[in-house]
Amino acid sequence: MATPADKLWRNARLATMTGDGLGLVEHGAVAAAGDTIAYAGPESDAPDAIEIIDCEGRWITPGLIDCHTHLVHAGNRAREFEARLEGATYEEIARAGGGILSTVTATRAASEDELIASALPRLDQLIAEGVTTVEIKSGYGLTLDDELKMLRAARRLAAERRIRVRTTLLAAHAVPPEYKGDADGYVDLVCEHIIPAVAGLADAVDAFCEGIGFTPEQTGRVLAAAVAHGLPVKLHAEQLSNLHGAALAARHGALSADHLEHLDDAGIAAMAASGTVATLLPGAFYFTREERRPPIAALRAAGVPIALATDCNPGTSPMASILLAANMGATFFRLTVAECLRGITVNAARALGLQDRTGMLEPGKAADLAIWNVTDLAELVYRIGANPLHARIHAGQ
Ligand code: NIG
Ligand code: FE
Repeated sequence: MATPADKLWRNARLATMTGDGLGLVEHGAVAAAGDTIAYAGPESDAPDAIEIIDCEGRWITPGLIDCHTHLVHAGNRAREFEARLEGATYEEIARAGGGILSTVTATRAASEDELIASALPRLDQLIAEGVTTVEIKSGYGLTLDDELKMLRAARRLAAERRIRVRTTLLAAHAVPPEYKGDADGYVDLVCEHIIPAVAGLADAVDAFCEGIGFTPEQTGRVLAAAVAHGLPVKLHAEQLSNLHGAALAARHGALSADHLEHLDDAGIAAMAASGTVATLLPGAFYFTREERRPPIAALRAAGVPIALATDCNPGTSPMASILLAANMGATFFRLTVAECLRGITVNAARALGLQDRTGMLEPGKAADLAIWNVTDLAELVYRIGANPLHARIHAGQ
């Protein structure tokens, strides 16, 4: 007799996300041995288990993944929101020294413990919706010590809650006030001092390639330094204009290029060739009242994997709901339900380089599950502001 599994969730319908679609299994079951899936498939072939959980016909998906957040930050930008309602643009506010830099001031003043305390309610909101993996960026410190403080706070969140955290160094987010007029000098600091210091604390490196961020030349230096230190890269690209950042990122083998409203055909071809995921951030699109949509049809035609994320941040996407991001992906970008659900599971895992560990219900993957009180999977995408989560399992628990 084979050794029984530890746990078996039976009497379920599965969306395994294996293959190209949702990987549906009616009358399905998932078994876990420790923190890993031992079986996912028809209940008739499921192994025996020590503990058996009857899902009463509910749907099981992989635990959800939010692959792009700025969850750790201090303060908020409600005043800036009001200024934008009176007509100021995001770029105008940034150029006047507000925007990202106002969050930098607040984040520098906060202790590591304060950053953790302010991030926890946002993290809890994601967890309540079945998120089992979250990416968290630095980028509001912009000094070596403050970037390290943000990354340590992000890492410590994984000890505060049962969740997998991936950290990304985003030191090249804005030029800090002490380097005003000397962006190249700041990029030197990032490449020569900050990137070499984050070994073990950051899983990837990101940058903001934009008129109000860094030029392609500066961005290229940051990406090259990251690669030289063995860190995979991602990029905020083509959000407000087309600086050909996605192609630049793809040339550095980027895991993902994110935002992409202004992406062109050459960028799409480069992403397809390098296997770079297109991470779309409809919360930022909505909140900045962007009018240009990412080129969905061309991304699809080129076979570029599409992920969706909250971009949870105080300036352009004060939103900590991955289900709302999925809903917005469908309503604003006309993604299909299957694309939205793959975008917050399997493709989000890929955007983090975690495709071998999570994002699918498959033996060998982490036992990260979300069990839902819905009769039709499309309900996960269709409702606005609803949370039909029944149970969330992280690493088998
Ligand atoms: O993803 N684009 C730059 N970074 C963030 C916004 C950060 C902020 O405004 O604080 C984004 O939209
Ligand atoms: Fe972002």
